[in-house]
Amino acid sequence: MLRCFRLAMLFAISIVVQPAAAQDSLCKRLGGGDAISAVVKSFLMKMRTDDPDKLGRFWLYRGSDGVAREEQLIVDFVQSATGCDRLYVGRDLGPAHKGMRLSSRDWERTFNFLKATLEEYKVPAALNAEVVALVESTRGQIVECETSQFGCP
Ligand code: HEM
Repeated sequence: MLRCFRLAMLFAISIVVQPAAAQDSLCKRLGGGDAISAVVKSFLMKMRTDDPDKLGRFWLYRGSDGVAREEQLIVDFVQSATGCDRLYVGRDLGPAHKGMRLSSRDWERTFNFLKATLEEYKVPAALNAEVVALVESTRGQIVECETSQFGCP
């Protein structure tokens, strides 16, 4: 009887001293770095191949090496921001986009591409909302004017 009591006490103590299980990172819940890389690349392909008078205008005459570098930096950024074991060594988003004259209309279209990509990869609703919130949090550093046109006047 005493033995059972001791065992029960040991069990109870072991529960108390266990650290609370932290929730897995968004990176892990999204399927890891490779899954994130695939989603980001698909999203960027939509941006790059958009109409030349819409978002495609930014990639009209870009060298392929520069585009590959930018793609890798964006993958790194998202992996790092979602808690993958990845160091982002690119510029802050503000200076990186300053002067591109990105408008709220550009942002809206970007978001439509983002949502379409998340649907394509069947990202569950709760995770989808977390990704959208993460990207939305960067808006202030990227959008330079509120207008219904592509680009700022
Ligand atoms: C609104 C639509 C956006 C457009 C049209 C756009 C366009 C671009 C372009 C053309 C570059 C290359 C800049 C250069 O080589 O100097 C770039 C770089 C980058 N963008 Fe965006 N971007 C947009 C939104 C975003 C968002 C929402 C994020 C992050 C969530 C992001 C993250 C980055 C990063 C990490 C870089 C690389 C910075 C560096 O070169 O150090 N962009 N973007």
